[in-house]
Amino acid sequence: MAESVAFSKTNDRRVIYAEIAPQIESLIGAETDLIANLANAAAVLKEAFGFFWVGFYLKKGEQLVLGPFQGTLACTRIDFDKGVCGHAYTTRETVIVPDVEEFPGHIACSSASKSEIVVPLFGRNGEVFAVLDVDSDVLNDFSEVDAEGLRKICEIIENRAANVA
Ligand code: SME
Repeated sequence: MAESVAFSKTNDRRVIYAEIAPQIESLIGAETDLIANLANAAAVLKEAFGFFWVGFYLKKGEQLVLGPFQGTLACTRIDFDKGVCGHAYTTRETVIVPDVEEFPGHIACSSASKSEIVVPLFGRNGEVFAVLDVDSDVLNDFSEVDAEGLRKICEIIENRAANVA
């Protein structure tokens, strides 16, 4: 198993997403455990981009429950109708929030978080089984480049999850 992740020192996130995607694919292709794979995916994203908070919430019963993450401590349970995570879960769409203070119902786990992107992950049955939440301490830090790059990484995880389910 790879012991480190390699990426260019550039501000062009498109380049970095393209570089880390195959590394995440080979990393999680060697492991069948979903939690282990989510943990390493969060670690790679944190290291490559230096995001303030990167992590997954997993659908458990009628809530989203905190899963593997990198960053400061976070709220453990989110109702489907609450927060940016609940909104992404319910709408089944990637949500970009340029200013969290402008998002009605945003759940502030840390006052340092200023902008956010949440991407849903789909199981083989078409249901959302988790969301990837990335927070930044900079306003308006996420764009379509992140939406596309993170979606591709979520697809790698979805394919792996489908293979082992
Ligand atoms: N801000 C998220 C909650 C999770 S934390 O940011 C880690 C939300 O509104 O759903």
